[in-house]
Amino acid sequence: MKVVVTRKIPGNGIKMLQEGGFEVVVSPQNRPLERQELLNFIQGANGVLTQLQDKVNDEFINSAGPQLKIVANFAVGFDNFDLPSLSSHNIVATNTPDVLTEAVAEHTFALILSIVRRVVEAYKIALTQSFTFGPEVLLGMELKGKTLGVLGLGRIGGRVAEIGKALGMNVIYSDPKANVEFEQKIGASFKATPEEVLKEADVVSIHVPLLDSTKHLINTEKLKIMKPTAYLVNTSRGLVVDEAALVEALKNKTIAGAALDVFENEPYLSPGLELLDNVVLTPHIASATIEARSAMGELAAKNIIAVLSNQPPLTPVKAK
Ligand code: GLV
Repeated sequence: MKVVVTRKIPGNGIKMLQEGGFEVVVSPQNRPLERQELLNFIQGANGVLTQLQDKVNDEFINSAGPQLKIVANFAVGFDNFDLPSLSSHNIVATNTPDVLTEAVAEHTFALILSIVRRVVEAYKIALTQSFTFGPEVLLGMELKGKTLGVLGLGRIGGRVAEIGKALGMNVIYSDPKANVEFEQKIGASFKATPEEVLKEADVVSIHVPLLDSTKHLINTEKLKIMKPTAYLVNTSRGLVVDEAALVEALKNKTIAGAALDVFENEPYLSPGLELLDNVVLTPHIASATIEARSAMGELAAKNIIAVLSNQPPLTPVKAK
């Protein structure tokens, strides 16, 4: 049986597939495949290990052929999958939850600390070699005693909440449903709507999946609800934030700053974003640790091995 891997991955995932007795074909390109390249590359595959740029829809499924049994995403997010189409063809879809939670939560705090302490601005000034220590130079905000607002209390949002708590922050969150056990465990407070979180938080961190209902969850109106001293942080999906509206809010100081790892139209930035001082930007690397990326490859491989051996997948995903 043939397993196609659309981009080289770290860790033992490829080796595990080879040892499983599959013919493993890994893309020789160190970049996402162009659409036609991808469609040609997956022909005849029984399993495909996909990247989040690979759109998996009817066209993909038809190109692969009727022997396709599993598509294993190298990501926790799976908005690149057309799940109704996959299930109508009886193709299993899987993602890589849990193994990247720590990496993403820690990167979220790398971004939070960078934006509130103006690390990128400061770095540029340090490079000029013409700075002086000054009582009013580059003043930032302390996190202790401030309110962290978590939008979406899933695995990653939950870990971000815990780290915030460890730093002495008050934690509030919104989610479709309250998690009383979690609230009691870490001392967080549930808010029935994202608006209530936006109104009170000093740092708002987004951890919702991209769904029709979360597209542009943060738009001009929502940004106006935030405090002018508050920061917005996004390590989920770019489309959850109306980026043009965010650029305006940052220019007009409707909010104090933003730190983003994801963008609406990656790898492009909305015009003006690159000119602002009150932003910290990273190129979709929140899960980019050796530990997480190796484990993601291994989990994707295990899912493929299981399904192609007629066993249930470890981490299937289904349409909500
Ligand atoms: C990365 O964005 C992921 O969904 O794992």
